[in-house]
Amino acid sequence: MKKGLRKGLTSYGDDDFSLFLRRVFIKAMGYSDDALSRPIIGITNTASDYNACHGNVPQLIEAIKRGVMLAGGLPMAFPTLSIHESFAHPTSMFLRNLMAMETEEMIRAQPMDAVVLVSGCDKTVPAQLMAAASVDLPALVVVTGPMMTGHYQGERLGACTDCRRLWSRYRAGEIDSDTINETSARLAPTAGTCMVMGTASTMACMTEALGMMLPGGATIPAVHADRLRFAEASGKRAVELAAEDLRPSAIMTAPAFRNSLVTLQAIGGSTNGLIHMTAVARRAGVEIDLREFDTIGRDVPVLVDLKPSGDHYMEHLHEAGGLNTVLRELKDHLELDASTVSGESLGVNIELGERVTEQTVVRGKADPIRDAGGIAVLFGNLAPGGAVIKHAAASVELMRHSGRAIVFDSLPDLAKRIDDPELDVVPEDILVLRNAGPKGAPGMPEAGSFPIPGKLAERGVKDMVRISDARMSGTAFGTIVLHVTPESYVGGPLALVRTGDHVTLDVEQRLLQLDISDADLAERRRQWQSPAEHAGSERGYMKLFLQSVEQADRGCDFDFM
Ligand code: FES
Repeated sequence: MKKGLRKGLTSYGDDDFSLFLRRVFIKAMGYSDDALSRPIIGITNTASDYNACHGNVPQLIEAIKRGVMLAGGLPMAFPTLSIHESFAHPTSMFLRNLMAMETEEMIRAQPMDAVVLVSGCDKTVPAQLMAAASVDLPALVVVTGPMMTGHYQGERLGACTDCRRLWSRYRAGEIDSDTINETSARLAPTAGTCMVMGTASTMACMTEALGMMLPGGATIPAVHADRLRFAEASGKRAVELAAEDLRPSAIMTAPAFRNSLVTLQAIGGSTNGLIHMTAVARRAGVEIDLREFDTIGRDVPVLVDLKPSGDHYMEHLHEAGGLNTVLRELKDHLELDASTVSGESLGVNIELGERVTEQTVVRGKADPIRDAGGIAVLFGNLAPGGAVIKHAAASVELMRHSGRAIVFDSLPDLAKRIDDPELDVVPEDILVLRNAGPKGAPGMPEAGSFPIPGKLAERGVKDMVRISDARMSGTAFGTIVLHVTPESYVGGPLALVRTGDHVTLDVEQRLLQLDISDADLAERRRQWQSPAEHAGSERGYMKLFLQSVEQADRGCDFDFM
């Protein structure tokens, strides 16, 4: 197998000339023949002026390069897409598959013997894992790490659970516009990813449990010196991975994916973790079964006391020993023989990891935050392909609830009517949002935790059952049913619900049901007309996306990947 500069030569019809030209141009950067004879370690550069979550990427790359060179390799950083949650229109999920494709193709196109994947913000870690699974070149992940927490008037704050909480208080008139503006400078006080157990933290923990990150890397804060030392160690290890030819296909196996799903349940992680890891697994040839995931959730308790399900932040989980403390508690549920990029099994990594005995962030199995895992999978005539609820962050009294459906036909319809004082709605109603799925929005935005109607929020109503085919930020909370599959835009049953219908949610029974007869449902289906095509769908990436994106139960990857 070809290595180093000889890999993937540009097609000129003469391989020796292709290699010669490659040397000519790379030498323009001052490299010596000695440097060019070393194993080449690619490093993805996902820094961007738009992406504060990746604000420390330049320093991480410097540290990774140092590690690569200490181990005798040649580091080569190269740019890829950088996706930030709040700077991606229509939604970051629309771009995840583009980043996965771009990362895959740039790893294939350029000569490298291993690659260090530097990422952090929600969609970037899954995009890179999807790429790594498809390319199957030795690879490991370095996340940017969580932000530190902020403070406002003595209260500890963190993005973005507290962003949502404060915004709800502002909507309810409990705080004024000056206060909400001042908090905008305190909620995300450093570089790094959201420091609650949102999607970024969830994906970091799942990636460590999957074995694609060196032990301990999920929780080190972005601004800690240890984060740089971890990056250096990852650079060193990447050179070894290249020599050992230890590929993702040897690590991303069915047992490893199970370990990541056990972890997702135990950390009270983001529902997005399920979609993303489903996409990664399918790239690796492993199917994630929603019913099996639900069964894991019935067995595995929530152990981590982090917002939005608990009280703490990622820096506290790190102080408590990081993910290793969680994995040690979970040993009975884990496939301990699964391989990892450290070269050791997960079980050995756990034994070698830091032990912190005096801590209050990670509970023991005898004293969990919740007896069952964080996420349940629902089925029923309203979600034949499944739907999920993060019941760890939901209202206990709404876990079994029937009510009148109030239907919003789309996100624009929601925006227009949700605060209308004339909206006929009471706290016991069930709010339904449709056309917010993978094709419907498009891009399946994190709109599932849509607001309580203004007139109820003003009366102090904090939570209602909300059902949609959208996703939800991992930092959000509430009794929110998501990922209803198939989505309404393609004719899923959510498209057939009418305002005034009776809907039943029963989390214990894993049921999501529209209380009408099969005959009535069939008649409505006969009458259903597909929605108008999206603007821009006639060309470009939008066309590719709408033609090819799959449903949530298949990870929303493209059908040709
Ligand atoms: Fe990037 Fe939250 S917005 S991790």
